[in-house]
Amino acid sequence: MRAVTIQEGGGLTVAEHPDPEPGAGEILVRVRAAGLNGADLQQRAGRYPAPPGWPQDIPGLEFAGEVAATGPGATRFTTGDRVMGIVGGGGQAELVVTHERAVMPVPDALSWEQAGGFPEVFLTAHDAIVTQAGLRPGERLLVNGAAGGVGTAAVQLARIVGAAPIASVRHPELHDGVRALGAAHVVVPDDVADLGPFHVVLELVGAPNLRTDLSGLATGGRIVVIGVGAGAKTEINLLALMGSRGRILGSTLRARPLEEKALVTRRVEHEVLPLVDDGRVVVPIDATFPLAQAVAAYDHFAAGGKLGKIVLTV
Ligand SMILES: NC(=O)c1ccc[n+]([C@@H]2O[C@H](COP(=O)([O-])OP(=O)(O)OC[C@H]3O[C@@H](n4cnc5c(N)ncnc54)[C@H](OP(=O)(O)O)[C@@H]3O)[C@@H](O)[C@H]2O)c1
Repeated sequence: MRAVTIQEGGGLTVAEHPDPEPGAGEILVRVRAAGLNGADLQQRAGRYPAPPGWPQDIPGLEFAGEVAATGPGATRFTTGDRVMGIVGGGGQAELVVTHERAVMPVPDALSWEQAGGFPEVFLTAHDAIVTQAGLRPGERLLVNGAAGGVGTAAVQLARIVGAAPIASVRHPELHDGVRALGAAHVVVPDDVADLGPFHVVLELVGAPNLRTDLSGLATGGRIVVIGVGAGAKTEINLLALMGSRGRILGSTLRARPLEEKALVTRRVEHEVLPLVDDGRVVVPIDATFPLAQAVAAYDHFAAGGKLGKIVLTV
């Protein structure tokens, strides 16, 4: 099979690899589309190796495609079924092997491109704001970095929960696009402080925002730190945290064991996929590139200023 391949020194190419084979409980998927994520760029730069058991030189945390074969004891899907899911690595390839419990069916409403860009960001956003932060109807959610993949998912999920999403987006030309996804307010980061208090903050940018996150936190508020692209270290005032009786949570998805990934996947399968089918949840795609143009896709991702996802078509 052909796959995006990280070369020594951080180069990127598309190279031949042996076809993987499904083991017990696993399925072989003929990949049609695979989304890009910040983690792929970090892995390419040598800063974020894949967890043990996943390909180290093939990036890609998510994919969508057709079941091509099933391993012994795998009974959930049959050949030809449309599936999508997260993997610890290796998604940006013509073939992927994964456990049948780690995937979900692709709703008819999603194109291959949309399906390839769905799993990582919707699972991350749902797990962070619904499962971990316990976002409730009537609450106000601040999403910092709301124009990206996780942010555009979180804005939509907050609306479905019955909460009010407030989006911080540094590029004004993307504000209308984020508003169209259901954001109650879309502001540049400097204006966030005027819009509090926030019951939940989804922090996708990192440490520079923590002071504002804390000062704008409602009583009993929760800050969930998911991304630290702008920095991981800062000084915070613990008195402010105590005063709001707040909580700061942090999370990663990639290194979790199969059992936890399957659970996160089931929650989204049951709670979000029906809303995709009736058009209440969409997957904004900023750009698609064929697998052979992976380098251009990575460059586009690194340039920023996008709305939603960048997806490789396979
Ligand atoms: N913990 C986990 O399990 C997990 C899972 C998925 C993703 N993540 C991380 O979460 C973050 C968001 O993921 P994503 O898929 O949504 O990434 P993304 O599509 O690249 O979106 C990131 C967004 O944050 C904005 N941003 C970045 N730096 C900023 C800054 N200094 N000030 C203001 N806005 C800034 C970007 O704006 P520009 O376009 O202007 O740069 C972009 O809109 C990434 O760091 C990613 O690695 C973590």
